[in-house]
Amino acid sequence: MTPVGEVPDDPFLPGPMAIREAELRTSKRGPRIMTTQRQRVSFVGLGYVGLCTAVAFANRGFETIGVDIDAKRVAQIETGRAPIHEPRLDRMLKTALQTKRLKVTEDVSQVRATDVIFLTVGTPSEPGGEIRLSFVEEAAREIGRCLRDEHGYRLVVVKSTVTPGTTRSTVRPVLEEASGKKIGVQLGLCANPEFLREGSAIDDTFQPDRLLIGAMDGETAARLEGLYRAFFGGKLPPTIVTTPETAELVKYASNAFLATKVSYINTIANIAQLVPGVDVEKVAEGIGLDPRIGPLFLKAGPGYGGSCFHKDLQALIAFSHALGYDPRLLGAVEEVNEEQAAKVVELSERLLGSLRDKRVTVLGLAFKKDTDDIREAASIRVIERLKQKGAEVTAHDPIAIPNARLLLGDSVEFAADSASAIRDADCCIIMTEWDEFRKLSAKDYIEAMRSPNLVDARRLYKPEDFEGLNLLGIGLGKDKARGG
Ligand code: UGA
Repeated sequence: MTPVGEVPDDPFLPGPMAIREAELRTSKRGPRIMTTQRQRVSFVGLGYVGLCTAVAFANRGFETIGVDIDAKRVAQIETGRAPIHEPRLDRMLKTALQTKRLKVTEDVSQVRATDVIFLTVGTPSEPGGEIRLSFVEEAAREIGRCLRDEHGYRLVVVKSTVTPGTTRSTVRPVLEEASGKKIGVQLGLCANPEFLREGSAIDDTFQPDRLLIGAMDGETAARLEGLYRAFFGGKLPPTIVTTPETAELVKYASNAFLATKVSYINTIANIAQLVPGVDVEKVAEGIGLDPRIGPLFLKAGPGYGGSCFHKDLQALIAFSHALGYDPRLLGAVEEVNEEQAAKVVELSERLLGSLRDKRVTVLGLAFKKDTDDIREAASIRVIERLKQKGAEVTAHDPIAIPNARLLLGDSVEFAADSASAIRDADCCIIMTEWDEFRKLSAKDYIEAMRSPNLVDARRLYKPEDFEGLNLLGIGLGKDKARGG
């Protein structure tokens, strides 16, 4: 049997027997979860979280149904090609489909055949930062309708990121009305936020740091715990059972804290940059050795991006304002992040003077490596500024160009590889920490570029390896900066 939480190389471990054993063990803990049958699970909404988690459950041997209203998306997933780039996802998706453990459909009524229904639809931002709940409400209504004539107990699990109170005050009444059932009687409901990261979503699903079970009642908590015990082959990761509201807030508080760490170290980087002899990397190492601080998430850079941090901070700020409290710290975290793009462009101006008609190459468009996601990416903010200042921008990214092209159109020239991207450039800016950019040497830049000016916004390179170049790095004190 695969040890708990280990990511299986071989799909379908720990396998049905292990799951059966686990469920039997679990069954000693609670009254009505005794079953030797594997529970069937469904996911309504096949975005990042829904698809990765559905594939993981199928991989662990659960009969899994994935539902999405987008017919094109469903059709693509059915071919075994995920609509998102995520390491290992395609391979596991193919196996899940071939073994028929995963079925994907547009037909939400298929959730009837499952014991646990995960709600994994998106909660996009409204103009004021609040989350739009229409997809959550609609999905809850559809699920409720499907369960109206069903007799067995069903558990609905809200995995979508929702502000505190949503599961109880929005999902609950919609589900109860549409199903004609009472939560706590034939229907369980809980909030169970997700913490997976893009680029390592599969590993994170198999090895989460923690589980948050925000249950409406004890039985619901026991049932969801039982399901996860089966998923993890018996032993749970650290698990907190609490109210739905607390679980919902943990999700926002986690992302807000991580974003705060990034804006904090970027603030220190901006100070470091003004002081001769200082390097923010060493500062981060120095403070990170204090166990009260810790070393993670202290990498200075061009500012955070991605679909979550900005959206979740805005939602938390709006939520807090609605309650009458102004969370000033969180506003500052966002401001610092927004301004960080300007800091990157300032570095290129220190090297070039005016950017008008200068050829600037941007290496990296994705908001971080190992993803093709450009949502809220710092590269986009930087490119917009460069364009405003009259620069001609050429960009390259190993996989995010198709997504970037949709957003940027032909305002930017896209290069097929990094070598052609830097050819004849006046300045190159490293925006994403892709491994392939690490392979470029000082010689590569010097030979290819019109003038070898490099802004290392991800601190990918050791300045001492780039002696013949004019290199400026985020958080690298003045005297180390050549040409600055
Ligand atoms: C984030 C959280 O890390 C997940 O736990 C959460 O589940 C997810 O949001 C979500 O809410 O769905 P993700 O957006 O995939 O995950 O990306 P992160 O790895 O957290 O990085 C976010 C941004 O911060 C990236 O642009 C990254 O480059 C930047 N970052 C991160 C830094 O600039 N410095 C660091 O030290 C760390």
